[in-house]
Amino acid sequence: MTLSVVILAAGLGKRMHSKLPKVLHPLAHRPLIHYVLETALSLHPRQIYLVYGHQGEQLQDALQQFPVHWIHQPQQLGTGHAVAQALPVIPNEDQVLILYGDVPLIRTDTLQKLLLKADSQYLTLLTVHLSQPTGYGRIVRNSQGQVTRIVEEQEADTHLKQIQEVNTGILVVSAHQLRQYLGQLSNHNAQGEYYLTDIVGLAVQSQYPVHTVTLTDPYEALGVNDRAQLAQLERHWQRQQTQQLMQAGVTLRDPDRLDIRGTVHIAHDVELDIDIILEGQVTLEEGVKIGPYTRIKNAHISKNAEILSHCVIEGAIIGEGARIGPFARIRPDTVLAEHVHIGNFVEIKKSTVAQHSKINHLSYIGDTEIGQRVNIGAGTITCNYDGVNKYKTLIGDDAFIGSDTQLIAPVTVGAGATIGAGTTLTLSAPPQELTLSRAEQITVKGWRRPVKK
Ligand code: UD1
Ligand code: CA
Repeated sequence: MTLSVVILAAGLGKRMHSKLPKVLHPLAHRPLIHYVLETALSLHPRQIYLVYGHQGEQLQDALQQFPVHWIHQPQQLGTGHAVAQALPVIPNEDQVLILYGDVPLIRTDTLQKLLLKADSQYLTLLTVHLSQPTGYGRIVRNSQGQVTRIVEEQEADTHLKQIQEVNTGILVVSAHQLRQYLGQLSNHNAQGEYYLTDIVGLAVQSQYPVHTVTLTDPYEALGVNDRAQLAQLERHWQRQQTQQLMQAGVTLRDPDRLDIRGTVHIAHDVELDIDIILEGQVTLEEGVKIGPYTRIKNAHISKNAEILSHCVIEGAIIGEGARIGPFARIRPDTVLAEHVHIGNFVEIKKSTVAQHSKINHLSYIGDTEIGQRVNIGAGTITCNYDGVNKYKTLIGDDAFIGSDTQLIAPVTVGAGATIGAGTTLTLSAPPQELTLSRAEQITVKGWRRPVKK
C-alpha cells in the first residue's frame, strides 16, 4: 500500500498568545513543523497533506522548501473534521498516517515500527503511558486487553481519568476505512467537535480490529500547547544533543549550559565551557577549546584552536592553533590562518590574516588582507569606508603597525615595513622602511591652566 501522511496544523494555538502561528514557533531555532515535515519525508510517502486554518500565507512562505499538498480547513470543528478535509484527495487504496504539527519530537524509527505493524485489515494506534495523563484522550480496553474506544479528557468520568495509557493522536488506517468512519462522526460531545478519536469506537463496533504500538520515550508524544511546554521540549532536545556529544568524546563543563541551534560537527577531545551557543553549521575540530559565554555561528574552527571567553564568531574560518579573545568579534568572510592571535576588543570583518600574525588589542580590521608574522599594534583602525564605498587595505608579510594607526583605505603597507605609532596612513608605505606621520611635539613654556572666576 502507498502511504499518505496527513499533518494536522489548523488549530489556533490560543494558549501560545502569539501572532506567530504556533507551528512556526522555533525549537532549537527551527519551526516546530519543520521537524514533523522532515520526519514525514523520511518515510517516503506518496504525498504529505498539511491541514491549515489561519495565516496560510505566512505558513506557505515558511514552508516553501517542503513538497506539501495544502488543505484548508476554514473552521476548526475538530480533529475528525480536519482529516475529513484532506480525504477527498487521498486515493482509497492508500494507507493514511496522521501526525500533528505541534508534536515535533516524534521519530522516524517509531513511525516505521508503527507502519510495520499497520495493515489494511486494522487500525493501528500509537499510545503512551503517562504518570500525569491529564488532557489526553484515554485508551479504554476490555477485560481481554483489547482497545474498545478512546475517551477524551472532557468526556471522561473520574474512573476513566485514572487510565494512564493515552492517545498520542498518531495513528495509521486505510483511506478506505477512514472514509467510512469519518462519515459517521458526530459532534454531540462536551466540546461540540468532531473527534477523530471516535473512529476507534466505530471501528471496534464494525469488527474492524484496533492494534496498538506503545512508545517508550514519552517526549516523542509531547505536544506544544503553551510556551512552558515549548521550553520543556527545547531542554529535552538540547539534552539529547549534549548526550550524543559526550558519548562521542566531547567534554562539556555543564551539558545544560550549551545550546545547539543548528547542525554541528564536533570532534573528540573538544572542550566546551559554560553558556555557549552554537548556531547554523558549526565545525569544531579535534582539541578545540571554547571558553565561557561565547556564540559561534556558521564557522569552522580548526584543530587545537582556542576561543577564550565572551567571543562572537560568525561566518569565519579559524586556523589550527589560533587563539581568539577574550572579547573578540569575528564577522563574516573572515579567514584566520594557523596560529593567528586575536585579542580583546578586536573586531575583524571580511579579512584574511596569514599565519602567526597578531592583532592583540582594541582594533578594527575590515576588508583587509594581512600577510604572515604581521604585528598590528593596539588601537589600529582600518578606515575602509568613506560613507559611500568600501576600500581594501593590504599589509605585507612581517610588517609592524605601531599603535593607534589609522590606515585610510585603499592603502598598501609593504612587506617588512614599520609604521610609527599614531600614524594616519594615506599613501602606501614602501617595504622594509619606517613610515610615519606625526605632528611635531611642542611645549608651551609658562602656560597656566585657567582658574575659575
Ligand atoms: C488530541 C486528541 C487526544 C490526544 C491528543 C494528543 C482528539 C479529539 N483528541 O487532543 O486524544 O490525546 O490530541 O496530543 O483528536 N486541529 C486541526 N483542526 C481542528 C482541531 C485541531 O487541525 O479543527 C489540529 C491542531 O492544530 C493540533 C491537532 O489537531 O495540531 C490536535 O488538536 P488539539 O485541539 O490540540 O487536540 P487535543 O485536545 O490536544
Ligand atoms: Ca494538542
